Amino acid sequence: MPKLRLLIVEDDEDIRAQMKWALCDDYDVVTSGDRAGALAEFIANRPTVTLLDLGLPPHPNEPEEGLAALAAILVLDPLAKVIIVSGQGEKNNAMRAIGAGAYDFLCKPVEMDELKLVLQRCVYLADLEQEYRALQQSAKTDLFENMIGASPQMQIIFDLIRKVGPTNAPVLILGESGTGKEMVARALHHRSTKSNGPFVAINCNTIPENLIESELFGHEKGAFTGALTQRKGHVETSAGGTLFLDEIGDLPLQVQVKLLRFLQEKSFQRVGGRQEIASDARVVAATNRNLEELAASGKFREDLYFRLAVVVVKMPTLRERRDDILLVAKFFLHNYGVEHAKFGLAFAPDALRALSLHSWPGNVRELQNRVRRAVIMTDGWRVKARDLELSDTSTSATPPQTLKEARESLERDMVLAALRRHRGKITAAALELGISRPTLYELMEKLGISREA
Ligand SMILES: Nc1ncnc2c1ncn2[C@@H]1O[C@H](COP(=O)(O)OP(=O)(O)OP(=O)(O)O)[C@@H](O)[C@H]1O
Ligand SMILES: [Mg+2]
Repeated sequence: MPKLRLLIVEDDEDIRAQMKWALCDDYDVVTSGDRAGALAEFIANRPTVTLLDLGLPPHPNEPEEGLAALAAILVLDPLAKVIIVSGQGEKNNAMRAIGAGAYDFLCKPVEMDELKLVLQRCVYLADLEQEYRALQQSAKTDLFENMIGASPQMQIIFDLIRKVGPTNAPVLILGESGTGKEMVARALHHRSTKSNGPFVAINCNTIPENLIESELFGHEKGAFTGALTQRKGHVETSAGGTLFLDEIGDLPLQVQVKLLRFLQEKSFQRVGGRQEIASDARVVAATNRNLEELAASGKFREDLYFRLAVVVVKMPTLRERRDDILLVAKFFLHNYGVEHAKFGLAFAPDALRALSLHSWPGNVRELQNRVRRAVIMTDGWRVKARDLELSDTSTSATPPQTLKEARESLERDMVLAALRRHRGKITAAALELGISRPTLYELMEKLGISREA
């Protein structure tokens, strides 16, 4: 790590030399003895922290020159960290400087231990602000309809939503549990021409089989025992908006027929009714099951499958887009930190490692739950692997399920270890692994490993 830069502005040569000597081990120190020089150094070096004496030539016994330097620095960078170093009798001047935006003040003669401590605290704050700004910046560019994702896989999904949203075509969203299927459905609705209409979400596997037809299409009075009044179904109430059919793979076959007919005709009959009722609801369906397989085994109607699968959005798993893990984790850490009034939380190095190594079988939802829990459990401002209930040593908390996963897990371990041993040098790591440089690059891309990792 390069040393952080420190600017010392002090007109007394002895004090300047003494401070520089005490701090140059830990910081990259530049110095100046007057206001003009201080500003020139500040512009040229952008120090993380500036130590500023208030009494500078030509008025070494007045605070005006120092205060003017402080003001100029803060114009250049409103978040600049300036620590005032003032003479004994100048406490009220130091307070003026704090009021004007200085971070802290120390009285001469300066205790070096005290100075180092104040500096550490100041650097920590500067770091946090920097990270927060970077996060805000990235959240702006990587946030789409409340979804986070900088990876190419997610950018493809965002593009697809932009294109398909405004059409009225049915969309089928596929993906493992917790990958964000419902978020995509909502984004599609929000981007559609029917965004002012209702978004009605129903989960086909939580409604009892004998009730699902009337839930969807409604029923007339007396259609069946217990149908005491006429009732509208979700297809009808979502007219002018979007009907989201979650877990569509669990829809009973006889209801599938009726849904297919609705998709073709844009009209339907209530259970026990004769009248054709029109609805322009846009249908978005989702499932984590393999619909093609279900269709092949006769559990899902092939014609309905083709009708729904005009546009398919295939959600990537979190382990397929490893570069997004830390981004999404930091986003949740910040949000839950604010929610629980724990500000400035950061992941400890072992937590960062554990987050990158875990296999995330529960995808974004699992990540969300672990971070939320960690925010509640953590004692200090550093969230550790322990708080996330993760280990930073094994590749995954759950053992690999398939041969492909086992192979990838082993490949990941070996590639990471080789890169670490050779400090990210590709040629050396490839040589050790017995593969060519291009092959290593390909492997890293496939596994979502960056050189820094
Ligand atoms: N890209 C993302 N950015 C931020 N949060 C996300 C993202 N994807 C998912 N989430 C969050 O993760 C959780 C799970 O998302 P969602 O309910 O959309 O997943 P799902 O695929 O429908 O899961 P399931 O199959 O279990 O119903 C939600 O709380 C959602 O807010
Ligand atoms: Mg869901």
